[in-house]
Amino acid sequence: MQKTMGTVDLKLVHERKEPFYEIPYTSQLDAGLSMLALEDHEWIDYFNFEAIRLPVEIVTESCSFLERLYEAHPFICGIIRMQPYTFYDWHIDTNRGTCINMKLGYSNSYCMFENGNRTNDLTGRFVTLDYKINTYYAFDNQVPHAIYNFDRERYLFTIEFEEDKTKLTFDNLVQEIKSW
Ligand SMILES: [Fe+2]
Repeated sequence: MQKTMGTVDLKLVHERKEPFYEIPYTSQLDAGLSMLALEDHEWIDYFNFEAIRLPVEIVTESCSFLERLYEAHPFICGIIRMQPYTFYDWHIDTNRGTCINMKLGYSNSYCMFENGNRTNDLTGRFVTLDYKINTYYAFDNQVPHAIYNFDRERYLFTIEFEEDKTKLTFDNLVQEIKSW
């Protein structure tokens, strides 16, 4: 009986839709943005991260995917930084339905999404988003997620759409990108 229950649980986990989507396009921006991130900047507070905003042109001019994305869904973009041994605890974004992220360089960090409803207040399942290099991910900001960062600064290139969660959802964006 125990074994059967276990099998059913695993099947449910397996069939659940992933709360992120790996965009099948290789970005050329990682090295340049990583260098830029290490320069002197006035980092500003951005939803409890540190951030710098980048002119949209510097990414759209050198990336055909982002150029097309911007035409379809205008956005602002920047780099966000997390300090070593800090975390951003489980939350759902206030305004954003979806965003696009690309991790810059190497950092020892975990980005996790809750996988189904919590078992109770203290326990639950999760899946991880294991960022590949040079790769953009669409991110479902309406699924509870958390980030834990370990021994070095973590840099992430991120896009925030002008359309909020009432106008642009993760499912709609992914469906559209798949049709391109
Ligand atoms: Fe978030």
